[in-house]
Amino acid sequence: MVRAVLTGLGTYVPERVLSNQDLERMVDTNDEWIVSRTGIKERRLAREDEATSDMAHQAAERALMDAGLKADELDFIFVATNTPDTVFPSTAARLQASLTDRPVPGVDVQAGCTGWIYAIQLAAAVIEAGVYRKVLVVASDKLSSIVDYEDRTTAVLFGDGAGAIVLEARESSPFGVLACYLNADGRGAELLVQPGGGSRWPASHDTVDSRWHFLKMSGNEVFRFAVKAMPDAVEQGLKQAGLSIADMDFLIPHQANQRIIDAAMRQFKLNACQVVKNIERYGNTSVASIPLALDEARQEGRLKPGAVLVFAAFGAGLTWGSTVLRWGKAL
Ligand code: UT7
Repeated sequence: MVRAVLTGLGTYVPERVLSNQDLERMVDTNDEWIVSRTGIKERRLAREDEATSDMAHQAAERALMDAGLKADELDFIFVATNTPDTVFPSTAARLQASLTDRPVPGVDVQAGCTGWIYAIQLAAAVIEAGVYRKVLVVASDKLSSIVDYEDRTTAVLFGDGAGAIVLEARESSPFGVLACYLNADGRGAELLVQPGGGSRWPASHDTVDSRWHFLKMSGNEVFRFAVKAMPDAVEQGLKQAGLSIADMDFLIPHQANQRIIDAAMRQFKLNACQVVKNIERYGNTSVASIPLALDEARQEGRLKPGAVLVFAAFGAGLTWGSTVLRWGKAL
């Protein structure tokens, strides 16, 4: 049996830090509210001239180096993003050109903050089907390009960043992607949306005057969805892998709100050592939040070969899903 094994991991965050104190000077908010309601203390913001594909490039180079691969050896590139450099062509095509002169096929995956999980599922499926053997999966979002820094209900939440993994085909490996679970319910489409600039409301003076080029979120409703979607994603992913909560060594959740992560921890009776959290330093980086947390856990030496990791995310769509992965490289 062919399995998609994670052979390389790399991440990137921009240098500029936006602290809660900085935000206090921009909108009517305060550190105490932000920390107690979200757990966030600071987030990173990309430079003005730094686009999603630039951050993707940095993460991808690090992942490729970690895997000991050159970009021209890749068979396919998936880029999960909600903030492509341009609506078209794809960020995957731009990333390919920045990595190698050799043409490599690629596509963007857009599924809200769950895009990273969707992209892993697609990559694992093409590897398991024998279509491709070396696949780069990148998550990159420049949320600061669509956040309204005059809207305190969203301005405090989001940050920029990127993560990348290399998945490679390995025969009979105990490691790699064991299962994925994906779901979407478009009845919640308007709860988290960038209304302007698409075919429904093409960019115009009116859409800009209405600030429709910015992200809009019904925070309370998304919160209520998230506290159900996160546990559902964990349970369904483990079920598809033939495992149970007791088999999960680490939960690496989408870092949207400390309270959503805490609710999942309580529900599954997990201790702090079993959950990876870094929301206080990066905020919600959308698709990049799980790979950023994964890389931190690795750098801290927390991930031992054979450990069962569950990535669980939710986001615009509404979408939700999980990946169950056994950590370790093939021998
Ligand atoms: O990855 C994408 C998925 N997105 C999410 O997961 C976000 C999910 N939602 C959330 O995390 C939370 O709903 C928020 C953090 C966005 C909001 O927290 P909340 O506890 O649901 O607050 P709320 O919206 O119910 O607002 C409570 C109060 C309101 O004031 P009143 O009406 O009670 O007087 C808000 O106006 O807090 C006020 N408020 C703020 N106050 C200070 C809202 N934003 C702020 C702010 N600073 N930044």
